[in-house]
Amino acid sequence: MGHIGTYLVPRLVQEGHEVIAVSRGNRKPYHDTGIWRFVTPVMLDRAHEEADRAFGARIAALGADAVIDLICFNQESAEQMVGSLEGRIGHYLVCGTIWVHGHSTVVPATESLPRMPFGEYGIRKAEMEFWLLRRAHQSGFPATILHPGHIVGPGWVPLNPAGNFNPDVFRDLAAGRKLTLPNLGMETVHHVHADDVAQAFCRALACRSSSLGEAFHVVSPAALTLRGYAEAVARHFGKEASLSFLPWEDWKRAANPADAGATEDHIMHSPNSSIEKARARLGYDPRYSSLEAVFESIDWLADHGWHI
Ligand SMILES: NC(=O)c1ccc[n+]([C@@H]2O[C@H](COP(=O)([O-])OP(=O)(O)OC[C@H]3O[C@@H](n4cnc5c(N)ncnc54)[C@H](OP(=O)(O)O)[C@@H]3O)[C@@H](O)[C@H]2O)c1
Repeated sequence: MGHIGTYLVPRLVQEGHEVIAVSRGNRKPYHDTGIWRFVTPVMLDRAHEEADRAFGARIAALGADAVIDLICFNQESAEQMVGSLEGRIGHYLVCGTIWVHGHSTVVPATESLPRMPFGEYGIRKAEMEFWLLRRAHQSGFPATILHPGHIVGPGWVPLNPAGNFNPDVFRDLAAGRKLTLPNLGMETVHHVHADDVAQAFCRALACRSSSLGEAFHVVSPAALTLRGYAEAVARHFGKEASLSFLPWEDWKRAANPADAGATEDHIMHSPNSSIEKARARLGYDPRYSSLEAVFESIDWLADHGWHI
């Protein structure tokens, strides 16, 4: 089970649902509690099944009242699911991403802003969202889409204050070493704890009539600037951040290509999303601020010798 599933599946069981968890069986939950005994695992490889145009039918045959689809990345996958589930299901909840917005215009961005996605991942997710919600509005297919931000939780490396996943950034801040940020450090990142994503899916399921045909952002109450994030992480470890800044092209040249690619993607998006719609219609009430979510996660990393 992945980031979201680790929290979502136990929540669903606790709420009294009978849960079937579909995956290839490669991943284990980050925290294994006894509650997983009450979950029926089903092994399926979506990629293989979709290639045979069989995945939707395999899911429909499970006879569920609701399907929560955490790994739908494009319209073709959604079409296969809807083709098989239409008329047989009460609710289809899909995981999107705040990347569907592309460049922000007005911030915090609301769900009603026009989509201007860039990059393969955001474009495909936005196409999928558009198709699915149009289908919901035109033919009443019971779909809802939730858009998480950067998902955080103990057990994996969170998006760091340089906008990439290199754990050395946290290590350096914790040790009071110098960190160089791109530009003025004023670009933004918007995290969310995986358990808050799970909460939002449960709320959307419970508030079916308010969520049908709708998209919702699922992030923490507020985005962070890279600079503010770096300073807070250093303070968390009892240090003052020692920051310097470089124009983007110079920063990029000095970084390793994997880090530079991740940072470029994140600062170009610089997400800052509103959760007012999810609060009002679903009662979404995130337990974690961005920093609380990140601190829980990096404390876990520090406790594990920063090895992951
Ligand atoms: N991570 C983020 O920061 C982030 C941010 C915004 C949106 N999202 C969205 O969140 C969703 C992913 O959530 P996540 O972060 O929880 O992902 P994740 O940690 O990678 O978990 C993915 C889950 O899907 C299963 N899976 C992967 N490939 C499969 C396949 N071919 N067939 C069947 N099962 C498969 C995995 O288990 P097995 O490997 O055992 O099959 C695992 O349980 C995606 O829709 C993504 O676009 C993520």
